[in-house]
Amino acid sequence: MLNPLIANVANPPAIVLAAVATLLIILIGSVRGTGWEPTTDISDEVLERRASAVPETEFPEPGNRAVGGGGGGGGAIPAAGDGEGGELEGGETVSAGPGDIPEDEVEYFEVEFVKQGETIELSNDKPILAQGEDNGWDLPYACRQGQCVSCAGRIADGPSEDFVEHDNQQMLEEAEIDDGYTLTCVAYPRDSFSIETGEAP
Ligand code: FES
Repeated sequence: MLNPLIANVANPPAIVLAAVATLLIILIGSVRGTGWEPTTDISDEVLERRASAVPETEFPEPGNRAVGGGGGGGGAIPAAGDGEGGELEGGETVSAGPGDIPEDEVEYFEVEFVKQGETIELSNDKPILAQGEDNGWDLPYACRQGQCVSCAGRIADGPSEDFVEHDNQQMLEEAEIDDGYTLTCVAYPRDSFSIETGEAP
């Protein structure tokens, strides 16, 4: 005798009925939907809102990149004639370096390079190091900004600043300057003197 469960499962009308019921359930479910709706794309709206919250920035004219807002070649940083600085467009002043000397005011001094065995004329608008190099000498240096002592030299005749003007040297102490030491990469001649290059304190 057939197991009643198997007999029931094998009953064709019951199978058809079950299939119809399943289809009905699926159909009703798909007609109702899940209730999910895609969210609105708000990215543009968010971007616009953020953009409107950022204050407008005024950028300088192209080519206006000099420190202090000076224009490239526009003369905002003046060619200071007296070495005491100049005035920016907004009335702000900038200090000119010791090499900012008008061409017609450039002076020359006799400088003896002891180790090289030569005396040459140096102008007061260029550092000693650069002018020694212009003369073909391979002089020591590293930073060329007064921030190491690689280019140091010694003026034996007294405090170096009696003979040169340093442009922002940051390494030598007062006593070393008094002892004649100078950083040739940022030292502008102000008188005639003798110097031994490659001499650090
Ligand atoms: S090269 Fe560095 S201080 Fe002159």
